[in-house]
Amino acid sequence: MRFLAILPVLLSTAALILTTLCLFAGSRPGFMEDYALVTLNTSRIGQNVLNTTSSESSNPFISFIDNVTNSVEAEINEGLNSFAKELGLHDFYSAHILDFCEGFYTPTDMPNATVSKSEIKKNVTDCSNRTAMYHFDPQQTLQLELNNSGNSNINLTDLNWPDEIDAGLKALRIASQAMFVLYCIAIAFAGVAFLAALASIFFTGRISSFINVLIDLLAFLAIGIASAIATAIAVKAADVINHYGNEIGVSAQKGGKFLILTWVATGLIFVASLVWCFDCIAGRKDKSRRYKNEGGYS
Ligand SMILES: *[C@@H]1O[C@H](CO)[C@@H](O)[C@H](O)[C@H]1NC(C)=O
Ligand SMILES: *[C@@H]1O[C@H](CO)[C@@H](O)[C@H](O)[C@H]1NC(C)=O
Ligand SMILES: *[C@@H]1O[C@H](CO)[C@@H](O)[C@H](O)[C@H]1NC(C)=O
Ligand SMILES: *[C@@H]1O[C@H](CO)[C@@H](O)[C@H](O)[C@H]1NC(C)=O
Ligand SMILES: *[C@@H]1O[C@H](CO)[C@@H](O)[C@H](O)[C@H]1NC(C)=O
Ligand SMILES: *[C@@H]1O[C@H](CO)[C@@H](O)[C@H](O)[C@H]1NC(C)=O
Ligand SMILES: *[C@@H]1O[C@H](CO)[C@@H](O)[C@H](O)[C@H]1NC(C)=O
Ligand SMILES: *[C@@H]1O[C@H](CO)[C@@H](O)[C@H](O)[C@H]1NC(C)=O
Repeated sequence: MRFLAILPVLLSTAALILTTLCLFAGSRPGFMEDYALVTLNTSRIGQNVLNTTSSESSNPFISFIDNVTNSVEAEINEGLNSFAKELGLHDFYSAHILDFCEGFYTPTDMPNATVSKSEIKKNVTDCSNRTAMYHFDPQQTLQLELNNSGNSNINLTDLNWPDEIDAGLKALRIASQAMFVLYCIAIAFAGVAFLAALASIFFTGRISSFINVLIDLLAFLAIGIASAIATAIAVKAADVINHYGNEIGVSAQKGGKFLILTWVATGLIFVASLVWCFDCIAGRKDKSRRYKNEGGYS
């Protein structure tokens, strides 16, 4: 029996669970919704179009709002609850590794005198189908929802949707595919690390410690690179959306909780490999001491 092996068993179990949660977060409505890579906030989409081009009624979006409210001016003055809802869009779209979810902010989309920012919750209505190698494409998603809600005469470009957002997110496509593959590899390695650590409770010896070091380092590499790519994607996507989306009332937030989750998993598996390194070295000292002792006795 090797009692030291119990520690890496626990560590690799935790890493395995966290990595799996990273992959499957948000794969069902309401399941770990806060652990999105990036959340797109479209609740105020189009607001600025009304300000800047309210006289130009050839824009189908303007005439749509005009029809809904009978007066653009009244709309601007009252502060429409949600343009997004009016248009058949949702307040937010959260991109996960396997899919995206959409829904509405409750009780309201913007903090006001009685509702503070921390009281605003996400109410998920739907998630897309789970897809391997998934890549979130807001332009297509939003246009599809405009089409489906009977507003297909409104083109997203009528809302001044910036091409730069599409270009910026398209550049992340390869990265998101690599990220998916790496999370799968990471889960596999974490699983093997768990089994190897479990076996090493019963099989003592430096060879088994050494094999464990190797497996844990490979798992660490996979989770670490996956986490690095996820971080890069979240930061870059939020940056590009906030930079160009600001003028049309669209904003994005990178998923802080997801990043914490994935980096904690990385840290755990790293500590597991350190424990095995320690076991490997301590084992050698043990053995050389035993040799000396045996030599002394004979
Ligand atoms: C749009 O109009 C609202 C209401 O008049 C105003 O508060 C807001 O600052 C305007 N936004 C821009 C970008 O002009
Ligand atoms: C606005 O209403 C008019 C008639 O009421 C209709 O012909 C037009 O298609 C409507 N426009 C939009 C964008 O819904
Ligand atoms: C959504 O975006 C709008 C406009 O950028 C902002 O005022 C609002 O606070 C955001 N809502 C949440 C819940 O982040
Ligand atoms: C804040 O928003 C809530 C929900 O829409 C609403 O009931 C409340 O009256 C608003 N408060 C103010 C001061 O506008
Ligand atoms: C969330 O949305 C569903 C349906 O869209 C609604 O029935 C439910 O009341 C909402 N929850 C909250 C807390 O607003
Ligand atoms: C999602 O899956 C269901 C059944 O599995 C299928 O009917 C539907 O068409 C799929 N939706 C999309 C957008 O692929
Ligand atoms: C939306 O409808 C238009 C035609 O009305 C079509 O050309 C376009 O491909 C549709 N967009 C999506 C995303 O389905
Ligand atoms: C929206 O407009 C762009 C350019 O103005 C065009 O390329 C695209 O096909 C249009 N999409 C729809 C659905 O009409």
